[in-house]
Amino acid sequence: MATNMMDAIRLHNYGAPAVLVYEKASRPEPQADEVLIRVHAVGVNPADWKIRQGYLQAKFPFPLPLILGYDVAGVVETIGAAVTTVSPGETIFAMLPLNQLGAYAEYVVANAALIAPKPMSVDFATAAGVPSIALTAWQALFNLADLQPGQTILIHGASGGVGSFAVQYAKWKGAIAIGTASTAKLEFIQQLGVDQAIDYQTERFEEIAADVDVVLDTIGGGTRQRSWQTLKSGGILISTEGAAEPVVSPSSALRGAPIFVEPTGSNQLQQIGQLIDSGHLNPSTVEVFPLQEAATVHDAIQNGHRRGKFVLQID
Ligand SMILES: NC(=O)c1ccc[n+]([C@@H]2O[C@H](COP(=O)([O-])OP(=O)(O)OC[C@H]3O[C@@H](n4cnc5c(N)ncnc54)[C@H](OP(=O)(O)O)[C@@H]3O)[C@@H](O)[C@H]2O)c1
Repeated sequence: MATNMMDAIRLHNYGAPAVLVYEKASRPEPQADEVLIRVHAVGVNPADWKIRQGYLQAKFPFPLPLILGYDVAGVVETIGAAVTTVSPGETIFAMLPLNQLGAYAEYVVANAALIAPKPMSVDFATAAGVPSIALTAWQALFNLADLQPGQTILIHGASGGVGSFAVQYAKWKGAIAIGTASTAKLEFIQQLGVDQAIDYQTERFEEIAADVDVVLDTIGGGTRQRSWQTLKSGGILISTEGAAEPVVSPSSALRGAPIFVEPTGSNQLQQIGQLIDSGHLNPSTVEVFPLQEAATVHDAIQNGHRRGKFVLQID
């Protein structure tokens, strides 16, 4: 086998999970400011199946065949000529830009500025479940909302990937966290640290939560609309589901903002890794599958109410 080939999961057409094919692909070459990563594990996110289905073609017009995957943990294999911040052999994790992808494969390239040291206390699979959801929650709470100690935050989807990091950041920051979850996951969000757990299947959160400083909405639709009334004057609602429509406040005293996660490995991801290693942050539990089973995982993530992250492992 020629050394410039690698195993990968590719899609040649958009569509159902069966379009994901395990096959040989060309191994990428790092540019001067990039590193070549030997992928050990890649996280699977809701956006993966939306891209696979073709729903994001207008925003990301990828040429086909396409290799998905942007949450990666692995080892630096080689570095570009201009890279000085990292060396071959270092263990790293990273979020790749959404217009790049490529991590459902043995190797992927990333700009050196995006990679951070893998937290030492967790394995590759757990680390691969971290970057994009942890960065989304971080940027929502600290960059957009500027969450302060003593403030109250209402987190929708607190049991999910983004939500579970948001709960932990809020408690780390000294804020009061209210979380919504299904009946089956209430105990989980209590273990994460929420001060108040609301069962979205049996309760109306807007009748319970009031005078909230920040809402983090990872659900959208009616959940987002009903959230406005929980905010105090000057409060802010941040939504992960804001891409398709502007977030309009019914009151000029309230602010709304969509969050679009940015891969910023060298600073935020490094801090997140340090919080994991110092025991302040528990990463999501992961369910690990071999890379070859990407289609099975897509089927599950698209249709199921799982808990934790799906991760594909490359041997
Ligand atoms: N814009 C961005 O930059 C960005 C970045 C990351 C993620 N996202 C998006 O953010 C969303 C969440 O991502 P994720 O990775 O956190 O997903 P996830 O891990 O699937 O979490 C979603 C959670 O929401 C819960 N849930 C479902 N309906 C609910 C409701 N009505 N009220 C409260 N909780 C509810 C689910 O639990 P149950 O099973 O118990 O219902 C699940 O735990 C996805 O749509 C994703 O595409 C956007």
